[in-house]
Amino acid sequence: MMPIRYELVPDDQISLVKDLCNELMIYQKSLATFRPELFDGMSFETRMVPSVKNAKANHIIAAMDSDEIVGYVYSNVSPKEVYSSAFATFFDMDSVKGNDVGCLSQFYIKEGYRSMGIGSVLYDESKKWLDSFDGIHDQFIYVSNGNDAALNFYKSKGFKVSHQILDGFITVLRNT
Ligand SMILES: CC(C)(COP(=O)(O)OP(=O)(O)OC[C@H]1O[C@@H](n2cnc3c(N)ncnc32)[C@H](O)[C@@H]1OP(=O)(O)O)[C@@H](O)C(=O)NCCC(=O)NCCS
Repeated sequence: MMPIRYELVPDDQISLVKDLCNELMIYQKSLATFRPELFDGMSFETRMVPSVKNAKANHIIAAMDSDEIVGYVYSNVSPKEVYSSAFATFFDMDSVKGNDVGCLSQFYIKEGYRSMGIGSVLYDESKKWLDSFDGIHDQFIYVSNGNDAALNFYKSKGFKVSHQILDGFITVLRNT
């Protein structure tokens, strides 16, 4: 394997991660034991495109093996109201003092490239970016049911389980 390169993906080039984003939805569905069918409506077009549009700032990093994208992480900073919709209220709005929150929103390393440290590099870069916003203290990660490896990964990085939503379909993690 070639050394992995890490590249910032500009907002107007997010289609570069389209295939991996769709793979992430299929992967999460395959692990879910509770309401896996909820993933059927989730895709790059329905999840990532609107999320990037609604955010105040986006941060996408791709991990490259030669000219192939083998992983990506997507984080954003958004008004907290984005997380209260008809679909779900992701957290108690009053528990966030500021107007905006940070979110590590999507994370996917291709099979065959996992458990080699790539995720830790991407995580560290995302966390650094999220921490760089003065006045935004609250950071969230949402993990779907069945994905215990991801849950443990984020716990090992210092995130804490806060609560569950949608009857346990999603576990909400916070930085504090
Ligand atoms: C979760 C994920 C992003 C982690 O990235 P990664 O490159 O595999 O992680 P790293 O190699 O940096 O591993 C960091 C630590 O996490 C743990 N870890 C990683 N993958 C693990 C797995 N599959 N099972 C158990 N522990 C795991 C290891 O203990 C490792 O600790 P170590 O460095 O002391 O060995 C990656 O495995 C992935 O993309 N998985 C599939 C998609 C997914 O679940 N995304 C998250 C959606 S919320």
